[in-house]
Amino acid sequence: MKRISVILALLVFVQISSSAQAKNPVYKDKNAPIESRIKDLVSKMNLEEKILQLNQYTAGMNTNVNNIGEQTKSIPAGIGSLIYFSTGPELRNAIQKKAMEESRLGIPILFGYDVIHGFRTIYPISLAQACSWNPALVTEAAAVAGKEANLAGLDWTFSPMIDVARDPRWGRVAEGYGEDPYTNAVFGVATVKGYQGKNLSDPFSIAACLKHFVGYSESEGGRDYHYSDISMQSLWETYLPPFEACVKAGAATLMSSFNDISGIPGSANPYTLTEVLKKRWKHDGFVLSDWDAIDQLMDQGVASDRKEAGYKAFMAGVEMDMTDNIYFQNLKELVAEKKIPMAKIDDAVSRILRVKFRLGLFDEPYTTVVGESSRFLQPESKAVAQKLAAESMVLLKNNEKTLPLTSSVQQIALIGPMAADKQDLLGAWSAHGNENDVESISEGITKEFGNVARINSAKGCDFDGYDESGFAEALSVARKSDVVLICLGEKRGWSGENASRSTIALPAIQEKLVVELLKAKKPIVLILSNGRPLELVRLEPLADAIVEMWQPGLCGGSALAGILSGRINPSGKLAITFPLTSGQIPIYYNMRQSARPTSGKYQDIPTLPMYWLGHGLSYTTFDFGDLKLSASKIKKTGKLTVEVEVSNTGTVAGSETVLWYINDPACSISRPMKELKYFEKKELAAGAKTTYKFEIDPNRDLSYTDATGKRFLEAGEFDVIVNNKKVKFEVTE
Ligand code: GLC
Repeated sequence: MKRISVILALLVFVQISSSAQAKNPVYKDKNAPIESRIKDLVSKMNLEEKILQLNQYTAGMNTNVNNIGEQTKSIPAGIGSLIYFSTGPELRNAIQKKAMEESRLGIPILFGYDVIHGFRTIYPISLAQACSWNPALVTEAAAVAGKEANLAGLDWTFSPMIDVARDPRWGRVAEGYGEDPYTNAVFGVATVKGYQGKNLSDPFSIAACLKHFVGYSESEGGRDYHYSDISMQSLWETYLPPFEACVKAGAATLMSSFNDISGIPGSANPYTLTEVLKKRWKHDGFVLSDWDAIDQLMDQGVASDRKEAGYKAFMAGVEMDMTDNIYFQNLKELVAEKKIPMAKIDDAVSRILRVKFRLGLFDEPYTTVVGESSRFLQPESKAVAQKLAAESMVLLKNNEKTLPLTSSVQQIALIGPMAADKQDLLGAWSAHGNENDVESISEGITKEFGNVARINSAKGCDFDGYDESGFAEALSVARKSDVVLICLGEKRGWSGENASRSTIALPAIQEKLVVELLKAKKPIVLILSNGRPLELVRLEPLADAIVEMWQPGLCGGSALAGILSGRINPSGKLAITFPLTSGQIPIYYNMRQSARPTSGKYQDIPTLPMYWLGHGLSYTTFDFGDLKLSASKIKKTGKLTVEVEVSNTGTVAGSETVLWYINDPACSISRPMKELKYFEKKELAAGAKTTYKFEIDPNRDLSYTDATGKRFLEAGEFDVIVNNKKVKFEVTE
């Protein structure tokens, strides 16, 4: 009898707990550990529900609010993610409500978008941001971008792009942080921190997505989407380090790249996607393919049909399929054929759910709706944009102190196709940036100088074409002015995706305009707005001063004007080398020494670039003292501190960035002539001096990686290099 009553009691208990479980399953319990919630939810999902999580579609292209119902109906309730094109959360919330209430298990959708350098408050392009050498400021900008994106209904951005780029013919050089692995790592981490904050579930945090994994920038000939021949040595030494740093910084996701990595495309590459990312780096988020990248495996010749493409990408380690619908259409069959194990499906789903749980989407699936006026373009956001634009601009040349313009300048000629332009200052990938929010060069200069000088304007010519009919007017404007500001550059569509150019020279018409304006025999200030290094070999000699303003986003006009007036002392330095001509490409600061350093030069042009990475002038002068070492010899396990005293020997305050390089002149493998390992930017008052320090950690700063990714630190002599000063030290066992 007793036994029966125990069994009955147990049955009742099981009944109660299972009905309680049904009402409040573990995966819905916000106090339960995330891993338990994932496990519980995956155990409840059927194969169709699992596969839907592995797909990303688009929504919000049609921003007409009256069509919210139509669009919501068209989206499957169980879809994993949507690329969301709207600027308001209403559609997102409607679709999310369908997912939470109409699907069997109520799994929230992840809404993503390309927020690369701002959402509505547009900051300078990433290549420009790197020229500020101010990671903290870049973090602030990313945090604002993340907040604006989150308030618009987004949980996720396909950023930062951290492709080390050495071929400026490739349009996407604009989107990353230049030619150096360490610089891309530092600014990539700074951007991830800005987006993800301290915790992914904090208000306004959004998930980052490192792209494009990996080696996309090595596209042959700078032709986008092409084959990239990357040795394992280069993979580990150049292209992987930024991704490793950002994965360690907690980046939630990555995007697999379009390019074919020496025969195995980035979106079907088990070595990079699983061996490196998952096994070695222990990344527990997920990988999203680039747009249709899985389908493109057929074009790249590694898949005979969509099913095989889906199989290869999924088994290689791409968890989510962007827009080509291959996973939705093929994975069920591949599982049924036992080609794809259910365990791998469960792992992929778990990775995606982990990001959703960490974002807090299960507990807070909806975006709080706030009015557009408090969603975007806040004064504090624009203040960051202004500061970052100013710190990103680089004074490339300033003969005879042409700049800053003094009070003797009473008439300013403002000439060139970029002078009054707005939309092109936004640059590529400017999300919901609106050209009406942009302050043009002309507006900035009028605001800065309008009360003290007369501004004489003339366009002179278009960005390209052959029409010289505007030259005469431009010349007459130049003749009657005291200084000639010539505003040239690239249209925003000349860089970014699928924007490769065979030459990095500006169109001839722009160069001809400068030659024409020489006739006025007035000081010429060249102002450049562009998304890549330019070929300046013919223009540089014609200009007395050159300011590289890049594509500065909303607030470039006043930032540039502040530099021209001296209100702002330029502090930018190039994060990418400017080749003398396109024929020199590739040329980058961390090249290896040639076998015959004094030979092997071009017969027809000089062999040095126009400007190396690190070039940038100031209105003041900085004097570098000798490098002081804490020791001349250290053990491998020791630390070495190097100091340099820097004095502001000029008459105005200015910020100086010290770039610390190392070199290993004799090693088991050849090493780059210089390797950037640390940098620091400080402001110095006129006459002030300060000490910059770099604490060398031999394993971190002096080691090298071999072709398997294994790091080696060898004893021997090393150089530390700052500002062309070099000092030797020794590392012993
Ligand atoms: C594009 C780009 C990628 C972007 C994605 C979504 O093709 O390669 O950088 O994030 O598609 O727009």
